[in-house]
Amino acid sequence: MCGIVAYVGPRDAQPILLDALSRLEYRGYDSAGLAILNGKGVEVRKKSGRIQELAKACASHPIQGQSGISHTRWATHGAATDANAHPHQDAAKKLALVHNGVIENYLELKTILSKAGHTFLSETDTEILAHLVGDAFQSSKAKGEARLVDAVRSATQKIQGTLGIAVIHTDFPGLVVGARRGSPLVIGVGEGENFLASDTQALAPYTSRVVILQDQEVVSLHADRFDVSSPLGDRTNVKIEEVENGVTHSDKGTYPHFMLKEIFEQPAAITNAFRGRLDVDAATAKLGGLNLGSQELRQIERICVLGCGTALHAGLVGKYLIETLAKIPVETQHASEFRYGDSPVSGRTLFIAVSQSGETADTLGAMREAKRRGFTCLGICNNVASTIARESDGGVYMHAGPEIGVAATKSFTSQVVIFTLLGLLLGRLRFLSAAHGRELIEAMENLPALITQALAHSDAIRAVAQRYAKHRSMLYLGRLANFPIALEGALKMKEVTYLHAEGYPSAELKHGVIALIDKETPTVLIATRDGVYDKNLGNLQEIKARGGPVIAVALEEDKKIITLADAVLPVPRTHELLQPILNVIPLQLLSYHAAVALGRDVDKPRNLAKSVTVE
Ligand code: AGP
Ligand code: GLU
Repeated sequence: MCGIVAYVGPRDAQPILLDALSRLEYRGYDSAGLAILNGKGVEVRKKSGRIQELAKACASHPIQGQSGISHTRWATHGAATDANAHPHQDAAKKLALVHNGVIENYLELKTILSKAGHTFLSETDTEILAHLVGDAFQSSKAKGEARLVDAVRSATQKIQGTLGIAVIHTDFPGLVVGARRGSPLVIGVGEGENFLASDTQALAPYTSRVVILQDQEVVSLHADRFDVSSPLGDRTNVKIEEVENGVTHSDKGTYPHFMLKEIFEQPAAITNAFRGRLDVDAATAKLGGLNLGSQELRQIERICVLGCGTALHAGLVGKYLIETLAKIPVETQHASEFRYGDSPVSGRTLFIAVSQSGETADTLGAMREAKRRGFTCLGICNNVASTIARESDGGVYMHAGPEIGVAATKSFTSQVVIFTLLGLLLGRLRFLSAAHGRELIEAMENLPALITQALAHSDAIRAVAQRYAKHRSMLYLGRLANFPIALEGALKMKEVTYLHAEGYPSAELKHGVIALIDKETPTVLIATRDGVYDKNLGNLQEIKARGGPVIAVALEEDKKIITLADAVLPVPRTHELLQPILNVIPLQLLSYHAAVALGRDVDKPRNLAKSVTVE
C-alpha cells in the first residue's frame, strides 16, 4: 500500500524515481507523483491513475535535477484526484513532502492552521503535515540543514497516527530528509548515491545494501553519506544489511501476469519452505528460528494465530494441522479485532503472527499488543527485512521469493507448509509417533511434484472459468481443513474478478445459504476423498436438487463425481493433512482465468493494496 522512493546522487533523478516507483506498483495505489529540486526550486508532477500517466506528464515536461522524492498513493483522506496526489507543499512552496500513513488528528490541526491563515489545495491529511513542517522550518533556531531535520522532528511530534515521509527543500539541493513512525522506510546505500524507499523491492536494480529505519528515527540523506538520528536527536549507529532483492525474480518472464507466474512457482516455493527443515531420522521438523527449546515448546498450552485475509486463512488451516498433529488447542483471530478487543488469553499461550509482507498494520499492531501483555510472539513472514520479522521473538521465514501479484497465492501454500512443520515438531514433542511423522515428511517431499501435476490442469480449468465467469455470485463450500480453502477460494475470486463469492463450511448450507441456490449461482464444492467425502456428496445432491450448478474440486481418479457435478477441477491425492494445499491450486487458477476472461487488471485489482500499512 502506497510507496515512497527518494533519490540523491549525481544522476538525473526523474527516470530513477519513475523506475523505482514502478517496482512498488504491486503494493497497490491510485495516484502517483514526484518532486525534484531543479536548481531554482521544487518542481512537482502528479497524476491520479497509473504511473504511466505520471511518466507521460514527466515526458512532456521533464524535470532536470539530481535529488527528488516520489510517491504512489492509496487514498485514505480525499478521493484519488490529481490535487490529492502527493507530493504536497508547504504554504511558502519551499518544500515538498510525500507521506505514507494516516494523520488521525488532521481535522483538529487543519482547524488550527486554517485559523492562522493557511489555505489548502487538497483534501488530504498529508498536506497538513507539509504545512506544519513549513511553519516549523520558519521558526526553527537550528542552522543550515539541521533546520530541516529539526522542522521535520518538531512537526511530526504534533501528529497522532502513522507516517513514513520524505521531504525536500529549495534551500538544500543535495538533501532528502526522511522520517518513520509506523510506516516502513529503508535507506538504500549506493556508490556515491543514496535512496529511501518503502521496501527493498523498489531498489532492486540500484543497490542491495540497506539500512532499515527504526520507528521514530529521522534520516538526512546526501549523495555520499546519511545520518540517522533518534527522537531525541542523538545520532544512532546504523547497521548496513545485504538483502536479496531478486531483480530477476521480479520479472514476469514468459507469464502474462505475476499472479499466474506465482501460482506456477508454488512447487519451488513450498520446497523452499521445507528445505533443510525436515529431520527424517528423528521424524520431525527443525525450526531453529523459533528461539524456543524443546522444554519451552512442550509447555505451550494454547496457540493464538493472528493475521488478515489470506494469511488468516493459512492460520485456519494451521489450526487444523496443529490440533490434529499436536493436540494443542489453536485459536485464530482477525488481527484487527484482537488489537482492540478484550479477548481473554490464557497463561501459556504462544502467539503466531502470519504475514507475507510482514508490514500489515493490523497484524503488527496485534502482535505488539500480545507482546505488551507479555506473551511470546512468533512470526511467519516472507519479507525478511520486515517489521514483524524483526519485532517478533522468533519465527519461520517462508523463503517464497517476492510475491508481486496483489492476490496472495504462493505465500498461502508456503504458510500452510510452515504450519505443517510446526504441527509436526510440536506433535513429535508430544504424542505423534515416528511412523506418522515419517509418513507426513514423505508426503511433504512428494508435494512439489503433485502441485506440478495439479497445475497441469490449468487449460481445462480455464475452460471452466470461461463458462462460469459471467455469473454474479458464487458459493464455496468445504469441510474441516477445506473450509478455510473455501474461504480462500472465495477471497481470490472476489479480489481478482469482483464477482461476489462467499465461503462456508459445507454443512452450513442448510442453515440459510441454501436460499441463494439457483441456476445462476454456481457452487464450488471441495470434495476430495477424506473422512467427510460422503457428507460432501450429500451437499452436492442438495444443491443439484435446487438447480444449482456444482463445480467440484475432486481427486483425479474420482469417477463418481464426474457423473454428479457440472464441472470437475481435478487434483492428485496426497496425505489427508496436506490435501488442502493441493485443493487450493485449482481455485487460484479458477479465479485467475475468470479474471482474464472478464478483462480484469489481474495483478492490480481495483481498490486493493498488496501490503495494507494503514489500519
Ligand atoms: C490476499 O490475496 C490479500 N491481498 C490480502 O488478504 C492479504 O493476504 C492480507 O492483506 C494480509 O497481507 P500480509 O500477508 O502481507 O499480512
Ligand atoms: N493519508 C494519505 C492520503 O490519503 C496517505 C495515504 C497513503 O499512504 O498513500 O493521501
